[in-house]
Amino acid sequence: MKLFLDTANLDEIRQINAWGVLDGVTTNPSLAAKEGREFSEVIAEICAEVDGDVSAEVVATDTEGMLAEADELRGIADNVVIKVPLIPAGLAACRRLADTGARTNVTLCFSPAQAILAAKAGATYVSPFLGRMDDISNDGMALLTEICEVFRVQGYATEVLAASLRSPQHVGQAALAGADVATLPTSVFNQMVKHPLTDIGLERFLADWQAYLQARG
Ligand code: G3P
Repeated sequence: MKLFLDTANLDEIRQINAWGVLDGVTTNPSLAAKEGREFSEVIAEICAEVDGDVSAEVVATDTEGMLAEADELRGIADNVVIKVPLIPAGLAACRRLADTGARTNVTLCFSPAQAILAAKAGATYVSPFLGRMDDISNDGMALLTEICEVFRVQGYATEVLAASLRSPQHVGQAALAGADVATLPTSVFNQMVKHPLTDIGLERFLADWQAYLQARG
């Protein structure tokens, strides 16, 4: 399973990229707006920083508008993936982009039926939002598991990108469900790496080493 970082913040991207575990970045209009900077510049900087796919989302809601934005975004860097919402206009844009060889991420997916449409429209990725399903008392992990199973049975080439993940447990379960990609906020990366026994163990190793050095004089 590939790990993407879900942010438009360069400092966060540099921090996690330094770990050597990052396969790509996803952004959305809310995350981009938080940066308060020119969107194309932010995407260009992220694309230069990350050796992997970088999703940049269109904000038009009609197909021609999405395609015009996609043209500009694709001109920024080769690793830009065009993110479109899972609405009829987004599916039409996805198909036309796919037919020209563009890579796409169909986002805001909340059902296996929607995911099937994204696959049929030639999406590179489809993004089910797990946490937001949980937010409305649905089972986000059950949704992901079902989509992964449908794609396996049908042999769809579209990759399942588990999004709106909120905890390290979500990441483990997404891997077990067979997600191709998990995109996580920086906070979840930081939680994933931490374990109290690692900290206690390291502290003990270093204390024992110091004692050994002192004993040797
Ligand atoms: O990748 C989708 C993500 O940005 C949504 O996450 O936590 O806002 O539901 P969240």
